[in-house]
Amino acid sequence: DRDDRLTAAVITLSDSGFAGQREDRSGLLLKELLEEKGYRMVESLLLPDEQSQIEEELIRLSDQRDVNLIVTTGGTGFSPRDCTPEATLAVATRNAPGISEAIRLYSMAITKRAMLSRGVSVIRGKTLIVNLPGSPKAVKESMDCIVDQLPHGLNVLL
Ligand code: MTE
Repeated sequence: DRDDRLTAAVITLSDSGFAGQREDRSGLLLKELLEEKGYRMVESLLLPDEQSQIEEELIRLSDQRDVNLIVTTGGTGFSPRDCTPEATLAVATRNAPGISEAIRLYSMAITKRAMLSRGVSVIRGKTLIVNLPGSPKAVKESMDCIVDQLPHGLNVLL
């Protein structure tokens, strides 16, 4: 059956999650929030903080699976292993900074630590990629800020 809903994928970046030392609550929450908004979930991945691996999956989901929206969680901070923004920028064809600007502006009213997230938002072809911080709290707050504006952008992209 044809299904013309927007599609989404979630990638959690966490060395400890990948090693099985921590439950991926943020990825699960993201998936639930996106399903609630009507997205058809294509994949949910849990990866270590390895830039080349992250790039590979972002490219595959964009180019092969034609996912409309990829949301990542984790790996946006200052820890030496955090490389989600670098992987995301490396696969970008166009920048879409307003989404990350909005997340940080909105989040700064909740915690000033929001300034410590280096998350970026970009376009690769017809796919929008948005980085969120790693905690479930930050995921919820960031999605509250952006989720209702995304469908307009995604439909213009097509
Ligand atoms: N943004 C929101 N909305 N809420 C939060 O609790 N935590 C901040 C920030 N952004 C936070 C937030 C913190 S403490 C850090 S260190 C950075 O996101 C980076 O998080 P990450 O390393 O898990 O990606």
